Parts: sequence; structure tokens; C-alpha cells
Amino acid sequence: MDADFWHRRWQQGEIGFHQAEPNSLLTRHLPALGLPQGARLFLPLCGKTRDIHWLRANGFRVAGAELSPLAVEQLFAELGLVPRISPAGALQRHEAEGLTIFAGDIFTLDREVLGRVDAVYDRAALVALPAATRTRYAAHLRAITGGAPQIVITFDYDQSRMDGPPFSVDESEIRRLYEDAYRLANLESRDVEGGLKGLCPARESLWLLQPR
Ligand SMILES: C[S@@+](CC[C@H](N)C(=O)[O-])C[C@H]1O[C@@H](n2cnc3c(N)ncnc32)[C@H](O)[C@@H]1O
Repeated sequence: MDADFWHRRWQQGEIGFHQAEPNSLLTRHLPALGLPQGARLFLPLCGKTRDIHWLRANGFRVAGAELSPLAVEQLFAELGLVPRISPAGALQRHEAEGLTIFAGDIFTLDREVLGRVDAVYDRAALVALPAATRTRYAAHLRAITGGAPQIVITFDYDQSRMDGPPFSVDESEIRRLYEDAYRLANLESRDVEGGLKGLCPARESLWLLQPR
């Protein structure tokens, strides 16, 4: 999945991953992080997710990283916000009250530019990446967030039945990626209604990652 793949998806409006409503696993399990009002959450590979609307409406500050300028533009437009735009290293910072989105490649975002985050919310980010990139992503995410706690939502299905993204990330993989630095707890798993892309039976799981 190179950058062109994602730019094309946004240009052609092929954004089946985008949900019309906030993710119900997030809204149910966010309290497990025990965050205070005003805490700052980082959403890697954030697209224009409605989860950002919900988090802001619930008193959280949000930082995100997203490759597609179109997605970033649509996010701010749908929030009814006009961003202040400034350079941020190799990325572009788009800012409004309680919201900072770094437009560009997450692998060029560093800890200083991102600033302090209290937690990470990963939905359709880890699973959007092919296997080799996932290992690099997990290490990079941990480094730029200072090992902040995470909520990670994964899909688990028979990878031979369907190509990703989303890719299947099963329990053994999430443990391999994160267990050295975090205590992992699976707070909920559920069947994906109708299967992934209407094709493939799959389980969606929410993992809580607490630093050791
Ligand atoms: C499957 S979508 C998920 C978006 C969002 N998390 C959601 O739940 O709707 C993955 C997103 O990651 C973005 N992306 C892919 N590679 C990226 C990278 N290297 N840096 C930043 N964003 C990236 C894509 O443009 C796409 O919007």
C-alpha cells in the first residue's frame, strides 16, 4: 500500500472504511483509559473519521496524522472549522480549537512535532498496513507517543479469503508487536455484521494497551 494507493482512494471517493457514525467500540470502551477531561488523544492514519467529532464533543483534544490532503480538507469542512495551516517538519500542521492534524506521512512525524499525547486511538490504522510495515509502524508509534496507552481495534479473518486492506491482525500478531512494552487486554470482540466487505466472516476486537 504505497502513498499513491491511498491518494487514489480519496480522489475516487473509495472510502468504504469511513463510518457514518462514531465507532461503538470506542464510545463503549474509551473510559477504560481513565483519561481526564481535556486529555489529548492521537489518532494515527485518521482519515476524516467521525470519531474525531465525537471525541471533541466529549471534551477531548485530538491530534491526528493523515496522508491525504483531501481527507484533511473534508474533515475540517465537515466539522465546520477553518484550519490554520503551518509547516511542521516534513508535514503540514492544520489546527483549530482542540484539534491538530498533521498532513503527510506518519513515518516522517517525530515526537517533538507531535507534542505530548495522553493516549492513542488506532482504528483502521494498524490493519490498513501490510505486514512488513506494521512492525515498523508499531515501533514508530510507540516512539513518537512516548509509549502512551492505546486503544487498538483489529480485524481477524482468514487472510487467504480476501486481500487487505484491512489486513487480518490476530491475537498472536498484536502480542508480538506490542507485548514487550504494554500489558494487553481484549475488552471486546464481535462478529463483523455481514462479513468484511460483505464477503468474509471476520471478528472485530478492541484491545487496551497499558504501558508496563
Ligand atoms: C483505512 S483508512 C482509516 C481512516 C480512519 N482511521 C477511519 O477509521 O476512518 C487509512 C487511512 O490512512 C491514511 N494513510 C495511509 N498511509 C499513511 C501514512 N503513511 N501516513 C499517514 N496516513 C496514512 C490513508 O490515507 C487513509 O485515510
